Amino acid sequence: MEFLFVILPLCFFLGIDAAVFTLENKCNDIIWPGIQPGAGRPQLMNGGFQLKPGETVTINAPTGWSGRFWGRRGCSFDVSGKGTCQTGDCGGVLECAGAGGVPPATLAEFTLDSPLDFYDVSLVDGYNIPISIAPSGGSSTCQTVKCLTDLNQHCPDGLEMKKNDTVIGCKSACLAFNKPEYCCTGVYSTPKTCKPTVYSKAFKLACPLAYSYAYDDGSSTFTCQKANYSIGFC
Ligand SMILES: *[C@@H]1O[C@H](CO)[C@@H](O)[C@H](O)[C@H]1NC(C)=O
Ligand SMILES: *[C@@H]1O[C@H](CO)[C@@H](O)[C@H](O)[C@H]1NC(C)=O
Repeated sequence: MEFLFVILPLCFFLGIDAAVFTLENKCNDIIWPGIQPGAGRPQLMNGGFQLKPGETVTINAPTGWSGRFWGRRGCSFDVSGKGTCQTGDCGGVLECAGAGGVPPATLAEFTLDSPLDFYDVSLVDGYNIPISIAPSGGSSTCQTVKCLTDLNQHCPDGLEMKKNDTVIGCKSACLAFNKPEYCCTGVYSTPKTCKPTVYSKAFKLACPLAYSYAYDDGSSTFTCQKANYSIGFC
């Protein structure tokens, strides 16, 4: 049993260093954030919950956590947590429990303590909701990253995802056309051969700090250290 006395204080110590994520719904509609941990990382909030306009939720993440956050919209769930979302759905359940969101979905991605925290807003899986990431209390660059342009209103022709006549999401060119040059696959599978396209350039113009295609690393990855992070929707 001695090992417990070693491990428990160690966990507590690691816990002190962990990051706090604050999720805020600045939209006018209810959203349902989804959280997918990286491989081998623990679930936060069982992967999903409802967030009303103006509400905030704080979530503690352990040291070394990685994963992604996204916003689901137009959901309806029954009392058992089964239902669907118009965008970002994770298999018809309120608590995504490890599943990711169906594209198109704007992502806020994190890899903590590696040894810096790396974070980005990604449009590689398309766009469905404005997202911002604001670090606080950290050292290093710690830049705020925003993609607040409503790309549903400025979605390039051919990428729109519509519900009746309303655009509710903006697909990536990879999802819309499934071609290697858009997906950075096949002969386009390296940063040298996969270049920006007219579609990724439109995303970049709308959100200069967000990933617009798979190899958009130079202008889209940000670092901070020992910080907390506010993730705003809208
Ligand atoms: C993160 O938030 C927690 C809880 O509010 C606070 O105790 C801690 O000092 C914050 N860390 C930083 C780096 O601001
Ligand atoms: C969308 O279209 C369906 C079927 O055409 C209709 O039943 C529904 O009321 C429409 N929804 C909205 C929000 O207009």
